Amino acid sequence: MARVVLGVAGSIAAYKSAELVRLFTKAGIEVTVVMTRAATEFITPLTLATLSNRPVTVEQFGPPVGPTAGWELSDSSGGAVLRVAESDRPMESATVVGGEGPRSASGIEHIRATREADLIVVAPATANLLGKVANGICDDALSTTLLASTVPVLFCPAMNTRMWEHPAVRANVRQLMERGAQFVDPGTGELACGEYGAGRMAEPEEILGAVRRLLSGVRRGRLLVTAGGTEEPIDPVRCISNRSSGKMGFAVAEAGRDLGYDVTVIHAATSTPPPSGVTLLPVRTAEEMGNALHHLHADFDLLVMAAAVADYRPRRAHAVKLPSGEASMRVDLVPNPDLLASLRGQREGKLTVGFALEWGGTPRERVARARRKLQEKGCDLIALNNPLESDSQFGGDTNRITLLYADGRTRELGLLSKYDAARALLDGLPAPRPIAPVLSLVPTTAGAKPKTKPSTKNPRRTATPRRSGPSANPQKPPRGGSRKKAPR
Ligand code: CTP
Repeated sequence: MARVVLGVAGSIAAYKSAELVRLFTKAGIEVTVVMTRAATEFITPLTLATLSNRPVTVEQFGPPVGPTAGWELSDSSGGAVLRVAESDRPMESATVVGGEGPRSASGIEHIRATREADLIVVAPATANLLGKVANGICDDALSTTLLASTVPVLFCPAMNTRMWEHPAVRANVRQLMERGAQFVDPGTGELACGEYGAGRMAEPEEILGAVRRLLSGVRRGRLLVTAGGTEEPIDPVRCISNRSSGKMGFAVAEAGRDLGYDVTVIHAATSTPPPSGVTLLPVRTAEEMGNALHHLHADFDLLVMAAAVADYRPRRAHAVKLPSGEASMRVDLVPNPDLLASLRGQREGKLTVGFALEWGGTPRERVARARRKLQEKGCDLIALNNPLESDSQFGGDTNRITLLYADGRTRELGLLSKYDAARALLDGLPAPRPIAPVLSLVPTTAGAKPKTKPSTKNPRRTATPRRSGPSANPQKPPRGGSRKKAPR
């Protein structure tokens, strides 16, 4: 079982720690909480102790606080056993016996917890806490835990926008990253102080995704996904489009995120909310999607073309709204370029996945047509949708996909949720890059260099699992689309 120490600092976002503990526990991760005193103003230790089913450390020299009845904790290294009397008082009543004989409960539990932890997650991490750890100050249980530990650390900051953008905080974040700390940067939105901007702690699901990645030690590279249906304008208010909901593309993005990919989604019109923790690039037309693809493609290891690109567009997009009331109207259509096929020559060392929607004929004929498409478009894999089944419709939550690989293999996935189908699709592909080591905040050898330095060339490759702060500008947006993060 993976073990995580959850550090909770004093921010209003501390209320999300309860959900985080619940998610960790549900995911089979043992979680031990260490809080600052300020954090207890926002959430009680007892709440987190109850949810984690483990004692919570607040005081550096005091006893931990825990659920009150029937505790029995083993210290595997020291042989100590902590027993708590059946009472409704917190752990002041604890006695520790065994190993070196009776001693205070203080120190034992959180030192054991950090010694045996696979990862320390600090959520929320305040400006104060980041500053202390960056500068080697340890004046409470949490900062001491962080400085005394050699396990990897993931910080999830939460603070006011101006604090997050303050040069002092930026310098501390940079310093921590240079020592190997990982960050899930705060999202942008309305903050507790009433202002709007970056500073809101990432959502617990996103933090869990980053934790999973770090625990598995896998960062599988960069995934570019297209989603939704392109809209081809007739005039400023009318367009030709299709019924794609974007659900399948977003499911691929979500599954990719959970598998450890750094995900960017170029999406046209969709009718479903995008996943969090991925970079979103909205476009409207096939031409805009093509521009975005050509601009970004070189930076990615894997492309999944789940978008329904309109095969035709009006020859002419009228600049003003056309008057209604005509007896008939003629719209001249011209073919759009095949975006997938157009990238054919630029795919060396990259994996490309296409989707196919085949209508009519026998299942065998549909597979044969999809195989032809795989070859013509030069894909490594094509996912054949089955739109004739009622459980595999546009906009639905389930799908029946047949995976056709370039090496001739075929795999029927059967009825699955779109997310599970996306997981299976990605799981069936080779990992595009070697497994990177998880980094440690404190080098194990004094003076040792961090194993990986954040690259200055490409901010996407910094130690930050997802984003790298307010100054990050991974790629300039293509014409017609502005880059934005998924709303939180
Ligand atoms: N595609 C593309 N550019 C287009 C059309 C499609 O890149 N102009 C991509 C789609 O995103 C999909 C794959 O090509 O991954 C298959 O699409 P397509 O050839 O349009 O096939 P179907 O939609 O399956 O069917 P049809 O050929 O009948 O349009």
